[in-house]
Amino acid sequence: MVQSQMDYATKLYSGTSQVAFSRIKGIMIQAEQEAYNNFTRLSKLLPEQADVFLRLAKMESRHREGFEDCSRHLHVIPDTEFAEQLFSDLRCAFQDAAVKHQVATCLLIQVLGVECFASTLHKNYLSIADEFSHRVTRAIIDDKYSHFNLCEAWLRTHFKVVQDELQVTNRQVLLLIRRMLDRVELDAQAIGISQYSLTEEFIVQYDEALSQIGFNARNILRMLSRK
Ligand code: FE2
Repeated sequence: MVQSQMDYATKLYSGTSQVAFSRIKGIMIQAEQEAYNNFTRLSKLLPEQADVFLRLAKMESRHREGFEDCSRHLHVIPDTEFAEQLFSDLRCAFQDAAVKHQVATCLLIQVLGVECFASTLHKNYLSIADEFSHRVTRAIIDDKYSHFNLCEAWLRTHFKVVQDELQVTNRQVLLLIRRMLDRVELDAQAIGISQYSLTEEFIVQYDEALSQIGFNARNILRMLSRK
């Protein structure tokens, strides 16, 4: 490691921020693993789109390896146990919907619970990342915008039929994501990411995803403000 990276790691990966940093790293890695698992399952739920879902799963696997490299580069041990637990409710909701063959619900959980949540962390992480992690995180963010987003495209195509199901799922998922953001807040603060910018970025991501699916601004605002 060059000196500047060592200084960065020493500062972040010491004292009170040590636990916080390894948890945030763990969450970033686990989000990619969740996405990989979800896409693999979706390839079986929508076999006619299996090729695309499996390609997306491969991409998520590469992303996970990228974040693992970032941790290794800074000699940080990611807290995967904490991260796995953080995603557990969302994972159960996805698996439950998959068993019932509620494809729209599965897709929305992937879009909001995994992609929007992960992007919120990625965008915020850029502001505190070391050079190596910055490069990796930036490439992963670019991937999100350059690959064909099959989840959103499928939901947009079937919007009229699945709109009611999505509204119900949204209420359930949003509650879980809010809880996850609350649990991440203190750790994020400890490494220099404010609660305000986490919430702000999540709303930006949420709005972007739901408008691409077909909800209008009024609907999105209602869905977001409903408790
Ligand atoms: Fe990813």
